[in-house]
Amino acid sequence: MNLLFLNPAGSSGGAERALLDVMASLAEARPGWRLKLIAAADGALVEEARAMGVGAAVIKFPRAVSQLGDAAAGGPAGDHSNPLAVAGRVAAAAPAIVGYARALRRAIVDCAPDVIHTNGFKMHVLGAWAAPRTTPLVWHLHDYVRARPMMSRLLKAHARRTAAIVANSHSVAGDARRLFGGRATVFAVHNAIDLERFSPAGPALDLDRLAGVPPLGEGGVRVGLIATLARWKGHRTFLRALAALPADSPVRGYVIGGALYETAGSQHALSDLRGYAGALGLNNRIGFTGFVADAPAAIRALDVVVHASTAPEPFGLAIAEAMACGKAVIASAAGGAVELFADGVEALGHPPGDAAELARTIARLAADRDLRARLGAAAAIAARRRFTRERLANELIPIYEGAAGETRARPAI
Ligand code: GLC
Repeated sequence: MNLLFLNPAGSSGGAERALLDVMASLAEARPGWRLKLIAAADGALVEEARAMGVGAAVIKFPRAVSQLGDAAAGGPAGDHSNPLAVAGRVAAAAPAIVGYARALRRAIVDCAPDVIHTNGFKMHVLGAWAAPRTTPLVWHLHDYVRARPMMSRLLKAHARRTAAIVANSHSVAGDARRLFGGRATVFAVHNAIDLERFSPAGPALDLDRLAGVPPLGEGGVRVGLIATLARWKGHRTFLRALAALPADSPVRGYVIGGALYETAGSQHALSDLRGYAGALGLNNRIGFTGFVADAPAAIRALDVVVHASTAPEPFGLAIAEAMACGKAVIASAAGGAVELFADGVEALGHPPGDAAELARTIARLAADRDLRARLGAAAAIAARRRFTRERLANELIPIYEGAAGETRARPAI
């Protein structure tokens, strides 16, 4: 099998980390398969793919294309840019899009894949335009399609072109089925994570030094949110929850992560979050580390990992990773995230966006070391059962094989 992956970003966000695990799990389970990656930007994804022996090429998105997105136009990131402005940017980018699709088509023809796996909205569409009609397409959905006003229309228009659609949770699969109806076959496949890297034992970072704050004294409890700065990841909810803790609370909060994607309007700036924390009077109770490459070492340095997404989380790699490191996790109980843990046993859920409830849960865990230990131990076991690369490969291989063997004529677009 000759499998070509197309990814719209080069850096390592959630969808890219998930893709690396897809490639790693296939390389392990099917060493005879040829895996290739084309990414639209340089970065950690490309480097790590190469390091695992996947042939990776970069065909850069022109700037006009990399900045396009409707995530902030009534999508999960809120209503910061107006849909008309987005439409205007799409129109202005049209020549660049056509040029890009042509370059992509040449690369696809050169590679002659049996199946193309696309890993992000822009590549789902570009893949459908650029791939020869006889090449089966598998879309891997990492986000809710119906939350994106323009993308949902575009994807619906091209859904019949897919041989299969993979969604990262049952929740995302359900959303896709409601949109695509009979146009496509959707499979829910949970992500895997690298359980060797994300394990309870191993080095831990000095978060205080990274954040430039004084060392936390004996008895202090470290509670961190690890996420990109996408607006819906709930940084403000987390900061408000920290501000609602009693003055004598032993908790210090950490915001771990930096800005990642180039899509206009969809992210906080770290400086805004610092300003917000300052206005809440949090200065002594919070540290901002910026982007951290060694996520497991950051997680190990925490006592409690908070996931605070204000919109339903499609999957929530950060939750799975923290569980695998044996941490007590507090997660927003909505979307695909609730499929990852037994609430109250393997992690504690809280209603998305509810800072008061989040504060109560943080305070409860901060005061109860045994509860933290119990949750962490149960989480580590659950993660080792649920998020293995072996399980991922076993679920994906029949999907690719089915796609490659598919003979039905593909409609023209
Ligand atoms: C996207 C989703 C996130 C998921 C990741 C990997 O980033 O928003 O929930 O964990 O993809 O599938």
